[in-house]
Amino acid sequence: MLPQFLTLTITALYCCNVLASYQSSAVEKLAEMYGYHADSHDVVTPDGYILTIQRLSKPHAHNSSRHRSPVLVGHALMASSELWIFREDENLALQLVDHGFDVWLANFRGTPYGVRHRTLSPKSHEFWDFSWHENGVMDQAAMIDYVLNTTGHARLFALSYSMSCTATMVLLSERPEYNAKIIANVFFAPAAFFKNPAGWWHLAKTLMNTFPDYARRLRNATGGYVINDKLPFSDVSLTTLCPAAKSNTVFAPVCKMLSDFFEGKRSYLGSDKLLRGLTIRFPSGASIRQGVHYAQSIQKDGEFRKYDFGSARNFELYGSSEPPSYNLTSITSPIHIYCGLEDVTVSVKDCDVVSKAIPSIVSVHKVPRYNHFHFIVGNGLQEKVNKKVIADFLSYL
Ligand SMILES: *[C@@H]1O[C@H](CO)[C@@H](O)[C@H](O)[C@H]1NC(C)=O
Ligand SMILES: *[C@@H]1O[C@H](CO)[C@@H](O)[C@H](O)[C@H]1NC(C)=O
Ligand SMILES: *[C@@H]1O[C@H](CO)[C@@H](O)[C@H](O)[C@H]1NC(C)=O
Ligand SMILES: *[C@@H]1O[C@H](CO)[C@@H](O)[C@H](O)[C@H]1NC(C)=O
Repeated sequence: MLPQFLTLTITALYCCNVLASYQSSAVEKLAEMYGYHADSHDVVTPDGYILTIQRLSKPHAHNSSRHRSPVLVGHALMASSELWIFREDENLALQLVDHGFDVWLANFRGTPYGVRHRTLSPKSHEFWDFSWHENGVMDQAAMIDYVLNTTGHARLFALSYSMSCTATMVLLSERPEYNAKIIANVFFAPAAFFKNPAGWWHLAKTLMNTFPDYARRLRNATGGYVINDKLPFSDVSLTTLCPAAKSNTVFAPVCKMLSDFFEGKRSYLGSDKLLRGLTIRFPSGASIRQGVHYAQSIQKDGEFRKYDFGSARNFELYGSSEPPSYNLTSITSPIHIYCGLEDVTVSVKDCDVVSKAIPSIVSVHKVPRYNHFHFIVGNGLQEKVNKKVIADFLSYL
């Protein structure tokens, strides 16, 4: 019953063509609405993906903008750069522009801003055959090089959130020469270790161990490797949907899970409007392998390892039947970590594991009441996070 239900759900998510959501102008329009300007740039990765990233500026600023270093701002899994621009108040990306930073909003392959390729069609399986390993060693590297080349700066700042932290850690350990290109990093909820799964991840772990061929089922159910971009209810707010579903025995528990996940147990959400803004943009496009790569860690011992292709292919690729761990001791670029004390996805215990594993951690901020999404939709962001991040970056100048 359960596998069928999951298959059905995933198929429903796959309902709409991922290309339909490609709107290169959404970020530009939002920036314009707030009195800023966003310029789109195409970055081509060595393996042919074309990523559209956006450079922000403030045309009517009293002072000339961009007198400070570039900042590359990364998004989470199943999200895109729209995450950083849909909120008008307490918007960290825009505040960095106000402080004179040259802000660039990154987009990984597979997002609505990363579905073009020099030779592959996004309708092919080959296109979606990537994980956050490739987001790190290919996409993040190419975007850093593009920004440095375009701005003439030798180094930049990186602000990363969840999966973009994962990709950055992959890059800095696999290609350590990139450490010298980053002045300092800020990480929000750095996803790497899953040694202490909390909340519904317990359930997910049990499910995955009960249905070990879930990855193959997912690929079948989605006709390939793509997770599509919109939930069926994405235009309806959870707080409208869920009371209506209370009497329904199927939807009530699902709603409870979703609202716990998005809003947190002790709600510290900025507003219902913000949550709605989030659910319109999340989930966005992603590959099945990005999710499965995290799942492999959750399912096993929570280690931060390369993708497990099965022992035969692992042996060819890695020279061992088990995938090797990423070598975090190669990371030398300074990192300031922010974790939410109520985050069940990157639990505070796993945040401690990352902090201990990387030698170049400068500071760890544990934000009271914040869960995984509050870094985007939380209230009190200004005092709890934004001011501190800006101070972190300014301390290097
Ligand atoms: C204005 O820009 C100049 C460089 O163009 C910089 O030195 C100065 O600190 C800026 N002032 C403010 C208030 O940001
Ligand atoms: C850097 O910019 C120059 C032009 O300014 C261009 O010819 C070159 O290909 C760029 N290199 C990279 C790695 O983007
Ligand atoms: C996946 O699909 C193939 C054929 O398209 C089928 O042979 C296979 O049994 C399916 N696997 C699962 C787990 O549903
Ligand atoms: C990890 O990286 C460090 C520093 O670059 C190196 O000294 C060490 O040998 C590496 N460990 C492994 C297991 O490759």
